[in-house]
Amino acid sequence: MSYSKDAHKLVDWYRSIRRDLPWRKDRDPYRIWISEIMLQQTTVAAVIPYYERFLKRFPTLEMLAVAPVDDVLEYWAGLGYYSRARNLHRASQALLTTGFPRTFAELIELPGFGPYTARAVSSLAFDEKTGVLDGNVIRILSRMYGIAAEFWKPAGRAVLQDIADRLAQHDAPADLNQGMMELGATVCTPVNPSCLLCPWNATCVARHEGRIAELPLKKPRKEFEIWQWSPVIVTRRGRVWVEPNTYAPFLKNHDLPPGDVKRLKKAPKTFSFRGGVTHYDIFVDVVRDAKFDVAKRKGRWVPLNELKKSIPVSLIRKAIEFESTEDDA
Ligand code: ADE
Repeated sequence: MSYSKDAHKLVDWYRSIRRDLPWRKDRDPYRIWISEIMLQQTTVAAVIPYYERFLKRFPTLEMLAVAPVDDVLEYWAGLGYYSRARNLHRASQALLTTGFPRTFAELIELPGFGPYTARAVSSLAFDEKTGVLDGNVIRILSRMYGIAAEFWKPAGRAVLQDIADRLAQHDAPADLNQGMMELGATVCTPVNPSCLLCPWNATCVARHEGRIAELPLKKPRKEFEIWQWSPVIVTRRGRVWVEPNTYAPFLKNHDLPPGDVKRLKKAPKTFSFRGGVTHYDIFVDVVRDAKFDVAKRKGRWVPLNELKKSIPVSLIRKAIEFESTEDDA
C-alpha cells in the first residue's frame, strides 16, 4: 500500500473530471472560506446561486466586515443555520485586523472555523499539506483502506485524520482534498457507489472484500428522548419574532421563537402537535403572547409571507403557523 501512489491517482482523476465551480476560479481564501461554510449546509447545485449573490454583495473581506449584520443575514436567508452567518460576519471583522492566516493552527482559533473549515481553507487557498475530513472523506477512507473506525469518537477520527494527512503530503494538497470531496459526492456515494468509475477501484479493500455496505461503520443511534417545547409566538404587523436558540437541546443552530423546553418521562396528554428531530420526540405546546416584549432581546422579525424562505425547518414553521393570526398590537 502506498499513500503517495493513491494520492497521485486521485489527483490525476480529479484533474480530468474537475467541475468549474465558482469558488474554484482562483485561490482567494475569502471566496474559498465562504464556499466551504455554505457547502456544509447543502449541495453544490443548491449553493451556487446563493454563493454568487453573496459574493456580488460582499465581494471582499472588507465589504463583509463593514456590512450591517442584518444585510449578511438577508443574503444568507434560505441557507439556514443563521449562527453560521453571524460567525462569518464576526470572523470577517477579526480577519480584517489580522489578515488571513495561512495555517490550520491559526485559522482554527477564529470564530466559526472548525477542524474541517480550517483545514479546507489552509489547504485549498494556501497549499498547506493537511487533509480535510468530513462525512464524504470518512466514507471513502473507511472503504478504501478497510478501516472499521468509530469515527464519532476522537480515537477513531484520529485514525482517519492521520490517513487524510498522509495523502495530503502530495505536492498539490488542494487538488487532493478537492478530489476527495468530488469522489465522495459523485462516485463513492453512501449507497450503490459507482465503483467502475473510481480511480481507486483496483485496490479498494471494501470492494474486494465485499464490505461496502458495512463501511463506514454506522454511528449508534441515540435513545429517543421525550421533550415538551413551548414556543411563544409573537407576531406584529405581519411578522414573527425569532431569535438564536439558547434554550433547546434540539435545533441548536437555528433561530426559534422564544420559549422553553422540558424533558418528560412519558408523552403528555395535551399538546398542539408532535414532531421529531434526530432522537428528540418533541411535543409542541404553542403559546401565543401578543404582548411579549422583544425590546431588549436579540433576534429578528421574519415576514410571515417569507417563512418558507427564512425558516427552513418545517417543525419551526409549523409552530409559527399554528398560532400566527395577524395582530397589530
Ligand atoms: N464540498 C465541500 N467543499 C467543496 C468544494 N470545495 N467543492 C465541491 N464540493 C465541496
